[in-house]
Amino acid sequence: MLLFCMALDCAAIRRQFPFLRKQEHLIYLDSAASVQKPECVLQAMDAFSRQKYANVHRGLYPLSEEATELFEQSRETVRSFLGARHRDEIIFTKGTTESLNLVAKSWGNALLKKGDAVALTVLEHHSAIVPWLQLKEEKGIEIVWIDIDDQGHLKRDGLTRVLKKGNVRLVSVTGLSNVLGIRPPIKEIIAEAHQAGALVCIDAAQLVGHHPVSVQELNCDFFAFSGHKPYGPTGIGVLYAKRELLRSMPPFLGGGMMIREVRRNGFTPADAPQKFEAGTPPIVEAIGLKTALEWIEAIGWNAIEAHEAALMNAAYETLGGIPGLRILGLQKPSDASGCVSFVVEGAHPHDLTDLLGQEGFCLRAGHHCAQPLHERLGVSASIRLSVALYNTEEEIRALGPAIARAIKVLAT
Ligand code: ALA
Repeated sequence: MLLFCMALDCAAIRRQFPFLRKQEHLIYLDSAASVQKPECVLQAMDAFSRQKYANVHRGLYPLSEEATELFEQSRETVRSFLGARHRDEIIFTKGTTESLNLVAKSWGNALLKKGDAVALTVLEHHSAIVPWLQLKEEKGIEIVWIDIDDQGHLKRDGLTRVLKKGNVRLVSVTGLSNVLGIRPPIKEIIAEAHQAGALVCIDAAQLVGHHPVSVQELNCDFFAFSGHKPYGPTGIGVLYAKRELLRSMPPFLGGGMMIREVRRNGFTPADAPQKFEAGTPPIVEAIGLKTALEWIEAIGWNAIEAHEAALMNAAYETLGGIPGLRILGLQKPSDASGCVSFVVEGAHPHDLTDLLGQEGFCLRAGHHCAQPLHERLGVSASIRLSVALYNTEEEIRALGPAIARAIKVLAT
């Protein structure tokens, strides 16, 4: 694995991505949807599958014991990456969506009652909204919303106001908006929510991989992310939760490995993390995720943040120079991270991205699973440009003339 000092050697990074070598004609600007994987991640998963594969926590033969050891080492890597205190606070799930559902369907279903409220921000992804709306239908909990200003900043007085109601039991907030690239001040939000007696759940699907995190420093109660955003595989995600919360929560799914004992008339669940990992877990994916997180750490956060800040500057400069194009939310790149979304007067986002796609630019168009946010911004859909470490400023600058050409085509 290559080690880098402060400045990121983007050419060396790009060489580590087989996808970019094979698809030289593509400019991949959709990493907020899913990130391409470096060679070391693909190789680790391949080598494990070919040489070390067995199910985990079941077999007493050496191959299975070694697979179990490697799987648990992955959990330890995640613990250390997140700065969690205990390894058993790390639950492997299928992805952020399942992690957030686990919070709602286990903690929420068992511990919330009619009249309790969950506070959501209008920045949230549907994964952080729908499970709570389901609980509202099932149990009569209340959902209260925290608004943003026109730049996308959370209205802090809105948070204070909803917390004053006295019935808010949990605040669910994104660590980084998948549409606006804005980072709410989660540390301050957590402190204020705790003072009011509410827990906090962080949807960190977009945050992890772009910025360092420490769940202990944040003092968050729940923290969810996916493997396929920080350069790892799909099919695996993580839920971090404080140990005492996990003790109070019932299992989410029933099946093998989540029990201590099963009788004809009942069962006793295992302790966390197994209590929440019914069935065969994503074993190969855990090996891939471990490798991906180690790869990120070897590059170093200073280099990552500096490179991505330069990419966001290039994005704002490029987009800002296109007549008729409106950037949503933040108008300056200094606070933006990972992605920026925009609309173009007279051009539907789908038509525009279709034309850009024909030129090799990969961007996402639509509501990006954030319809309440788009409604708040007064648009039904937008185009999103999102970046990762393998992107260059040149790639982003090339988008400017391509958008101008697409606008011209759509106008004729
Ligand atoms: N949640 C991912 C996105 O925003 C898929 O594109």
